[in-house]
Amino acid sequence: MALALGDPDDGYYITRDPLGRAGDFVTAPEISQMFGEIVGIWLVEAWRALGAPLPVRLVELGPGRGTLMADILRVIARLAPSLAAGLDLHLVETSPALRARQAAVLASSGITPSWHSAFAEVPAGPMLLVANEFFDALPIRQFVQADGTWRERVVGLDDDGRLAFGLGPGALVGDAPARLLREAEPGAVLEVSPASTAVMNAIAERIAREGGAALAIDYGHAETALGDTFQAVKAHAFADPLAEPGSADLTAHVDFGALARAARAAGAGVLGPITQGDFLLAMGLLERAGRLGAPLDEAGREAIRAAVERLAGPQQMGTLFKVMAVVPTPIGVAPFPG
Ligand SMILES: C[S@@+](CC[C@H](N)C(=O)[O-])C[C@H]1O[C@@H](n2cnc3c(N)ncnc32)[C@H](O)[C@@H]1O
Repeated sequence: MALALGDPDDGYYITRDPLGRAGDFVTAPEISQMFGEIVGIWLVEAWRALGAPLPVRLVELGPGRGTLMADILRVIARLAPSLAAGLDLHLVETSPALRARQAAVLASSGITPSWHSAFAEVPAGPMLLVANEFFDALPIRQFVQADGTWRERVVGLDDDGRLAFGLGPGALVGDAPARLLREAEPGAVLEVSPASTAVMNAIAERIAREGGAALAIDYGHAETALGDTFQAVKAHAFADPLAEPGSADLTAHVDFGALARAARAAGAGVLGPITQGDFLLAMGLLERAGRLGAPLDEAGREAIRAAVERLAGPQQMGTLFKVMAVVPTPIGVAPFPG
């Protein structure tokens, strides 16, 4: 999974901009500016609740086309000019194609970002961090319950020399709750993402030590659960993940239970996760939609209504996507709906 997505020559993200209607998938910031504006409001409120530290790092993991950050920066400039003047911007991005796109989109903000290949390269200090649809792109490992033991699912070659799934001897890793493992039926699949928990652990460790707040938004489950969620998506449709490695987006649902444990283990506090629908509605999505739609004609208002439905509707992104915040303890400093 890591090679298919990140190989320096042929990795899926390295060779293209996969977002948008002409690409393989559409993300929330690409649906409407309202998403990034609301995330920006949360970051401003969190910064104030933390005592308005300056200077402060504004960090985004996996910024895609830069749309989310452009919307966040516009809101910060309007609501908190001193924060806008005192922040430095750090983008963690492995894709040269998307770095170029981010540079172009953010040029008009007047803030010059620094790019990094990994979170560990972001300089120390208080930070406000956002990661939308970042953790789902990090590699997972799958373990299958077979005859009372957990065996790792591996990729090998079948008799015809084609890539095929099989079972290896690997011993179970991770910290899934013992009850979940005990009750698993034969054939049950457990997914773990050591890459994701390592990044979350490092973020939380820094927030606990130096102050700050992080918001992780992604599709996934609030508690660790069994199930095979590994998927390939190409041109807005599901694809065979082994058919053409490097040509399709590979993802898995994010285990927010595991991310929360990783954050708490590092000494930080966790707020949520709650659903994206609850988060956006509590943060004023409908009010913002009303303001944006007021000067528009009926077609314009309908487009905004459709965007609200897509972002917050239970059949769309509203329930599947979750929002989780990481803050210093004692918590209660950063506002969080619900
Ligand atoms: C699904 S896109 C989400 C883009 C953006 N956050 C949005 O919401 O539109 C995933 C992003 O993470 C980046 N990415 C994927 N794997 C990464 C890794 N290991 N380290 C840093 N960035 C990565 C991709 O290049 C892309 O910018």
